[in-house]
Amino acid sequence: MKIGFIGVGKMAQAIIVGLSNKSEIMISGRDFTKTQAMADKLGVEAVKTNTELAKLADVIILSIKPQILPDILAEIKAELSPEKTLVSIASGIKLEELTALTAQNQSIVRAMPNVNAAIQRSTSAIVRNDKVSDEIYLYVKSLFEQVGSVFEISEKDFMTFGALAGSSPAYIYIFIDAMARAGVLHGISKEIATQIVAETVLGSAENVIKSGMHPQALADSVASPSGTTIAGIIALENHGFNAAIISAIDETIKKEKSF
Ligand SMILES: NC(=O)c1ccc[n+]([C@@H]2O[C@H](COP(=O)([O-])OP(=O)(O)OC[C@H]3O[C@@H](n4cnc5c(N)ncnc54)[C@H](OP(=O)(O)O)[C@@H]3O)[C@@H](O)[C@H]2O)c1
Repeated sequence: MKIGFIGVGKMAQAIIVGLSNKSEIMISGRDFTKTQAMADKLGVEAVKTNTELAKLADVIILSIKPQILPDILAEIKAELSPEKTLVSIASGIKLEELTALTAQNQSIVRAMPNVNAAIQRSTSAIVRNDKVSDEIYLYVKSLFEQVGSVFEISEKDFMTFGALAGSSPAYIYIFIDAMARAGVLHGISKEIATQIVAETVLGSAENVIKSGMHPQALADSVASPSGTTIAGIIALENHGFNAAIISAIDETIKKEKSF
């Protein structure tokens, strides 16, 4: 199976780095000199044009910005066929719109990785149209599994997923930084405090996944009567912590809907 990436920016590079079989990957870009240099760096094959790539690849991963996706599809349309699968990682472009830009019988997968693909820890969502066979779907899913976890969700939930997994790393980074600053206030260097908090966030997230316990039950298990943790939990509540988080996700979704 030949996989072709059209556009090799941040996200495509992150995915390619995590894929095990580089020999089956080819890339194309806006400027061939740049594409060749990138191909040498990533250990993949450079192809001169997007059209040539579409001709050669079985799975075509559209990793360009959403604004130029219609132009790229118009450029490669003649090379598409039901035997090839298009995978779009472009934010906000629905399967229905992708179908309208190609042909009614085009096999299309929509995926949404996140910024943590750069360390092979993406939380990705994936959905297909009814032209994608089970075999191809499992193959495409396995590509995203090589760079993190994959959630098979309904397309109507992609916007919510975008807020919970695409934008939320920014909110989590801000949370980590705020807690580290409190550590600095109490005498630990910013660097060490950031490491301590980041490790604690990592361990706590793993505990939610591995223990299967409700996050609130895990929080209660740390909070002993008249103790330090319950004092902190009450302070969080008094300062509207839960409301702020829910509002951040809600505003993210509202903004996405307004585009
Ligand atoms: N970054 C994220 O966290 C994230 C998360 C989820 C989904 N996505 C989606 O992933 C896609 C790519 O995002 P990105 O962050 O990787 O963007 P990016 O770093 O800007 O990469 C886009 C790439 O497309 C190339 N390109 C521009 N015009 C082209 C053309 N005519 N033909 C071929 N390639 C062309 C650019 O090349 P030049 O640099 O030479 O212009 C660049 O390498 C977007 O649709 C975005 O919505 C991104």
